[in-house]
Amino acid sequence: MIYVVIPAGGSGTRLWPLSRAGHPKFLHPFTGTSASLLQATVDRLGPLTTPERTMVVTGAAHAAAVARQLTGLPEENILVEPSPRDSCAAIALAAAVIAVRDPDAVMGSFAADHLIGDPQRWVDTVREAVRGAEQGLLMTVGITPTRPETGYGYLRTGEPVEGGPMRPVVEFKEKPSAEVAETYVRSGHYLWNAGMFVWRVSAFLAELARQQPDLHGGVTAIAAAWGTDEQDDVLGAVWPTLTKISVDYAVMEGAAAAGRVATVPGDFRWNDVGDFHTLGEVLPADTDGNVVLTGDAKPEVLLHDSSGMVVAPQAGRLVAAVGVRDLIVVDTEDALLVCPRDRAQDVKSIVDELKRRG
Ligand code: GDD
Ligand code: MG
Repeated sequence: MIYVVIPAGGSGTRLWPLSRAGHPKFLHPFTGTSASLLQATVDRLGPLTTPERTMVVTGAAHAAAVARQLTGLPEENILVEPSPRDSCAAIALAAAVIAVRDPDAVMGSFAADHLIGDPQRWVDTVREAVRGAEQGLLMTVGITPTRPETGYGYLRTGEPVEGGPMRPVVEFKEKPSAEVAETYVRSGHYLWNAGMFVWRVSAFLAELARQQPDLHGGVTAIAAAWGTDEQDDVLGAVWPTLTKISVDYAVMEGAAAAGRVATVPGDFRWNDVGDFHTLGEVLPADTDGNVVLTGDAKPEVLLHDSSGMVVAPQAGRLVAAVGVRDLIVVDTEDALLVCPRDRAQDVKSIVDELKRRG
């Protein structure tokens, strides 16, 4: 049984007005069922770990909601960060806390905001990654790219290792420019990084110490005080000093350059739930290609002569449309969004504008 951390932060600005700073996307049922993305992530882990070995690292503002959604998780396994310091600090904190308990442990880090089809294939892929981790490698999961997406990390893979699906990663490039992403996808040598990592805590912490000594020192100090009377004082003093950087830039790019990263290609359906258009592509649609996003059993939606719509109604209010296609309509108590599906990425600009107005 591996240890698991689920870093759960960030607000998902392209999913506004459903996803808000106070109610980020991982708490929403963007799964086509009543489960939130976070609950679905934990449910998927069932065959690989136990609730006792599963940790969630999240902000103080979301800890109560996380606890309400994950009733099976021991309360002390929800690690509360005083402020967001990006994914490296969150994952490193969990690694350091686990290392105090069990320095030889293998841990997986799984993002809170992914939709995965074929959960059994996903479990098989992670099991392969565990085998690589046991050899001391920092393991990733690779997804065959379908477009030159600039929001992902790219893995350049070497020749497959004999006797298994694992391949060495000779280069890890986080969020390349559009031009670079284009050449990567055209070359056929790159996979997307799925945002899932498996490693021995000792191997990860050694790489952290080599590349980010301040972060390593900080989380080690916090972990030493974890669960004692000093915990809150040390956390409060050290956390704000930690470098704000994602694990991809902080550790994975450099570890790949040092030959310490490998990947297992995943052949399950995978989606980083980033915007309403992509959600519309992965969730079940009716015969006209319309998708209704709701955890509610009784969706309040009437669509006549309309197709390709992505609609999120709010409870108790009807959304009706006649003769339109390929629109996103998201109704909430205090905001209504209407946007063509091919502009789904630009929803972020509304959030930016709202932030500017304060
Ligand atoms: N606790 C905590 N605190 N968690 C955080 C924070 C933070 O400050 N910032 C991000 N996270 C969590 C997110 O909730 C998510 O579960 C995970 O860390 C990844 O962060 P994202 O912000 O979603 O990263 P990304 O989507 O831009 O990029 C990552 O995922 C891609 C695939 O979805 C990278 O790993 C890419 O390489 C990868 O392709
Ligand atoms: Mg993400």
